[in-house]
Amino acid sequence: MEQRTLTDYTQLHIWLQENASKTVLLVCDDSIRYMDLFNQYLKRAEKTGMKIIPFKDFQPNPQYESVLRGIELFRRERCDSIIAVGGGSAMDVAKCIKAYANMSGNGENGEYLKQEIVPNAIPFLAIPTTAGTGSEATRYAVIYFDGKKQSITSDTLIPQTVLMNPDVLKTLPMYQRKSTMMDALCHAVESFWSVNSTEESREYSREAIQGVLAHMNGYLNNTEEGNAGMLMAAHTAGKAINVTQTTAGHAMCYKLTGLFGIAHGHAAILCDRILYPWMIENTDKCVDPRGKEYLIRTLDGIARAMGCVDARTGAKKLQEIFLSLGLEVPEASDEQFCELTVSVNPVRLKNHPIALDEATINELYHEILR
Ligand SMILES: [Fe+2]
Repeated sequence: MEQRTLTDYTQLHIWLQENASKTVLLVCDDSIRYMDLFNQYLKRAEKTGMKIIPFKDFQPNPQYESVLRGIELFRRERCDSIIAVGGGSAMDVAKCIKAYANMSGNGENGEYLKQEIVPNAIPFLAIPTTAGTGSEATRYAVIYFDGKKQSITSDTLIPQTVLMNPDVLKTLPMYQRKSTMMDALCHAVESFWSVNSTEESREYSREAIQGVLAHMNGYLNNTEEGNAGMLMAAHTAGKAINVTQTTAGHAMCYKLTGLFGIAHGHAAILCDRILYPWMIENTDKCVDPRGKEYLIRTLDGIARAMGCVDARTGAKKLQEIFLSLGLEVPEASDEQFCELTVSVNPVRLKNHPIALDEATINELYHEILR
């Protein structure tokens, strides 16, 4: 099913009418406070008899229990549609509410995690408020149950409609602005070299890389055009990872956020700026079934999308972009290097086109950090 894109809040009215929505579950994070136009629109909709049921009872790295509370509210209020507003966590929670809403039982003790997801047609609209995760374009969600990360994948998680309004980025703080932009760039780059890439996904990657680079200055200076361009580039990068998933950069970056308290996109670019040049030197260890020559062409292709002549220049440019943002390089202790090395989930490395053993991962971490 093709995802539909709206650009203006006034189009929400049509969306609600088309879906005959009477009661909407509004899954939102704090960013909604700054969305004056959207809030005005909701007030007007309520005056015409629409019921809006807000649900904000979740945290970053959302828990399964939060999803259960959302489903309870969805059922109790007899909601007939879902609107998600926010960053990655709001999207994850809304996606799981949608996927589990029609399941049997009350979901206690992780019950819904064990049931097969049966696709449903609950109208689901997403309004991303950061230009980074691209979650509004993907079939993945991540929640935590009993302290363990649960990766959920189903096509029914993809919102049928997205509303892309760049105004939401106006109040984004600078660190979040930079780190989410790097998340989007890393999605596009990793998807490009993923063993799962297809012609279609590489086209999304190319478009996203070009979009990030073209709009970086405007976006960092908070111009309307820059914000609009970056929002679209991050969305396109989301479409790319929807096909391929992410690779070693993401597998290696998760523990960095936990250990050093840095943002996800900051951690991802720390890894990818080192992985890219390392890969150029290690194409002999290629495990992509399409072969070494194909991988070499891919690494060149990424560089060309960045406006560079070859892979080496491209890798240099990625490092320069990172340096230009003034993002910190954390210092790790010997103990932390060991902790990081064993933290990398080998299953996630499967998408990477070059084999990585434990010793190599340890060496890479020594380059990634100080
Ligand atoms: Fe990411």
